[in-house]
Amino acid sequence: MDAQRHTRIRVGTLLCLAAFLGVPDGSGGLQAAASGGAAEIGAVPLGLPPVEYPADNPQTPAKIALGEKLFMDARFSSTGEVSCSTCHDPKKVFTDSPLKVSEGIFKLTGTRNAPTVVNAAYMQTQFWDGRSPSLEDQALHPPVNPVEMGLKDHQPILDIVRTDPEYVQQFKEVFGKSGEAVTMTEVTQAIAAFERTIISGNSPFDRWFFGGEADAMTPQQIQGYHLFVNEGRCVSCHVIEQTQALFTDNRFHNIGVGINAIQDQIPKLAREFLKAEATASEVDKKVLTDKRTSELGRFAISRKLDDIGSFKTPTLRNVAKTAPYMHDGSLATLREVMEHYNNGGVTEPGDPVNDFLSSGIRPLNLNDEEIDALVAFMEALTSPEYAQ
Ligand code: HEC
Ligand code: HEC
Repeated sequence: MDAQRHTRIRVGTLLCLAAFLGVPDGSGGLQAAASGGAAEIGAVPLGLPPVEYPADNPQTPAKIALGEKLFMDARFSSTGEVSCSTCHDPKKVFTDSPLKVSEGIFKLTGTRNAPTVVNAAYMQTQFWDGRSPSLEDQALHPPVNPVEMGLKDHQPILDIVRTDPEYVQQFKEVFGKSGEAVTMTEVTQAIAAFERTIISGNSPFDRWFFGGEADAMTPQQIQGYHLFVNEGRCVSCHVIEQTQALFTDNRFHNIGVGINAIQDQIPKLAREFLKAEATASEVDKKVLTDKRTSELGRFAISRKLDDIGSFKTPTLRNVAKTAPYMHDGSLATLREVMEHYNNGGVTEPGDPVNDFLSSGIRPLNLNDEEIDALVAFMEALTSPEYAQ
């Protein structure tokens, strides 16, 4: 544990942290979290800020262990075959790489590529379009999505956690609740607590930039870093700060993916969408089952025209291990991603750009060697636990 970093943790979290200092290696949850890339509660790897814990959902080792078990439990799907970890596999940086879009029950496909859960604890909103405000809220959605876990409602989950003897005992220990008192609030709080341990930094870039290890990155990766910050302007959205780097600005941008293919249909689609006045849960189903609605991006949530085709800036940590890329998985390699940016937000040079393209996306005129360097830089963002 890095004592100096520890002192930066907000005072609000110190009280609950104090309870855990001195806890030995503890529960299965902590061990698994360590193998999945997280540290002891409250400690953060090089390059990351402290995790903020909601006041009403403090971390405890028993809660984290419970959350991990819930995350891995396939009984919470209509077929008994799909768990959170089906699409967020700890062995694949908590994604389902190399799938383009996720496969749920009966191998039904959605419209979107599964983002990593690693460092999702730092995201201000969840999902590519930010339609969920917290990890707790996010965990309510997949079980009842028709192409993910396929339940009609959350009742089958509650039936299991209220009667399975191990869960009964664990919910009692963690929340002091049993029977009807156990609700989806407790279930999702435990899952979120587990997810807040899935944090990962300490990559070659972190050791070079924050740790002062001059040879942690190769000369080519260092060249790539300079392009990332300067000519490439990548850092304006994939943010690096003085003491930490999340590689996201937590904002939404249209960088010309997916939407380019349906440009002529946008006015009609947008009009239809606004007319439908869908509820939040209808929107959740619609964006994952209807390809064209999915491409509206943040617009489906904010209903603002300039959000059409905008998606949340993803982190770039461990990105070399999570191909394919973008919200629709349409770009197969980091090289293809770089070519898309180099062309100014179109996959083929000369293709028309879409009307809602971010002003931050313009042709870069990088040569082959520079593109290689940028790819090499992104390869330096892999944390040691995912390097194999
Ligand atoms: C069938 C595959 C599948 C299953 C099962 C699944 N997810 Fe996901 N997950 C996805 C996809 C696809 C997205 C992106 C959807 C979107 O943005 O509209 C996602 C997004 C997320 C995000 C948001 C990350 C970010 O950076 O925005 C989190 C967190 C998450 N899932 C956690 C979970 C949890 C917890 C469960 C179990 C309760 C779960 N997922 C079950 C495929 C899946
Ligand atoms: C204007 C903001 C912005 C700029 C500038 C920008 N990005 Fe992105 N980046 C995004 C957004 C938003 C996405 C997701 C877009 C989508 O899925 O439609 C993304 C996606 C990516 C992805 C895919 C990640 C994944 O997990 O799927 C990579 C890799 C990437 N960017 C690298 C770069 C590099 C390298 C640069 C500089 C050459 C750059 N970005 C510049 C906003 C930006």
